[in-house]
Amino acid sequence: MKLALAISFAAAAVARAADPVNVLLCIEAYCPGCQQFTVDDLIPTYEALGSDVMNVTVVPFGNAHITDEDARTMTCQHGEDECSGNSYEQCAISLYPDPTDHLSYIGCFDKISGVMAVDKAFETCATQQGLDWDGISACHDDADQSWELQVAAAAATPADHTYVPWVVVNGEQYDLDVETDFLGFICDAYTGDKPAACSGKVAKKTLRCENK
Ligand SMILES: *[C@@H]1O[C@H](CO)[C@@H](O)[C@H](O)[C@H]1NC(C)=O
Repeated sequence: MKLALAISFAAAAVARAADPVNVLLCIEAYCPGCQQFTVDDLIPTYEALGSDVMNVTVVPFGNAHITDEDARTMTCQHGEDECSGNSYEQCAISLYPDPTDHLSYIGCFDKISGVMAVDKAFETCATQQGLDWDGISACHDDADQSWELQVAAAAATPADHTYVPWVVVNGEQYDLDVETDFLGFICDAYTGDKPAACSGKVAKKTLRCENK
């Protein structure tokens, strides 16, 4: 009897549900810092903690600007290729809303974007990740659909962002100039029982050339 009670208490503790931590990631294609944060911090942390702990929203637009909504004109920090790359990513997110699918697609692009034309890179990654390239490219090439997604991404990008990647955790900016441990930060923000992965650390790489 005592044992049964203890087991049921333990089960209740394990199952104690909490809301996932909301994470908003604002990025733009061809931004090295965005690529680094996505590949080295966000994706490994999401893989370690999962959707029960992290509710991830990715918005590819960054420092782009809609210059004339009626005329459908915009500028992107890294030029036409970035506008196009943001569009491919917006299309992938719209077609594959599960972060497991679109994060690995964006991460794949980030790794090969320097060595291939923008459309070729996204096609290669669609094949590699098992996503429907015809669907993604049809969305990107559809003037109405792609423009609507650009406008929606612009609206979903906080107007007060001062750089990208701009990361917002439960409504507060995650300050990349101060914080160094994204996994630990998300674990601290999670009010449920800490998953086992919280006692580990995501290997942190930094863009530096060491003088050895
Ligand atoms: C996840 O985030 C989205 C976008 O902010 C929000 O609409 C949704 O309600 C959140 N889901 C949960 C389970 O908190």
